[in-house]
Amino acid sequence: MNRGVDTSERIAPRPVEPIVVSQESELRSRVGRWKRAGQRVGFVPTMGALHDGHLALVRRAGELADRVVVSVFVNPTQFGPDEDFERYPRQPEKDADLLAAAGCDLLFLPSVEVVYPPGNVTYVDLEEGEDSPSHGLEGASRPGHFRGVATVVAGLFNLVDPDLAVFGEKDAQQLAVVRRMVRDLHFDLDIVAHETVREEDGLALSSRNAYLSTEERRAAPGIYRALRS
Ligand code: PAF
Repeated sequence: MNRGVDTSERIAPRPVEPIVVSQESELRSRVGRWKRAGQRVGFVPTMGALHDGHLALVRRAGELADRVVVSVFVNPTQFGPDEDFERYPRQPEKDADLLAAAGCDLLFLPSVEVVYPPGNVTYVDLEEGEDSPSHGLEGASRPGHFRGVATVVAGLFNLVDPDLAVFGEKDAQQLAVVRRMVRDLHFDLDIVAHETVREEDGLALSSRNAYLSTEERRAAPGIYRALRS
């Protein structure tokens, strides 16, 4: 792999802590250097509050690529007006520690202004019809959600410029939306799906599990049992 290219960057040991970058220029310069050295860059977009499900995606990216970039960005445009944008769990320091152990090379922590330049008016939208992957399910219960997801993922793909990106099958409709967007808009990267990581009792790991009361947490694995049966 990568024969005939400058491998001096690739053979350098992975940093113990990921490089933390917030600005577009520094991100492009770091990733550009790796790519010019012939290294494949894997990407895992997240909204933070990381758990083992995210870390499995990061480790998978590390198996498939020479360098791994993870973004942590709580994307305002994918939350409805009555949703949990303000209270969505945020734990950047803990996330950085977890990412170091999982083999992340670069943590991208952009501000809203970096992802959505002031005066931004451009969005990626999917048609409503039955053939659209955004039709029904979460697309129906959360109007505008997949517009926000597609827009931020497109923006992050253009910022990071990865060779591949890993998404969890837990968010199956999101995965289908991203795959269709990549096909329709000719993004030049591979989308890799990773199986859902579950608690021993079957509950899928999710940052929002933190919202469950003791009672709800006890009942939640019933969803998995019902799906199985
Ligand atoms: O799955 C998520 O955490 C988010 O929807 C994503 C893909 C990071 C976009 O904000």
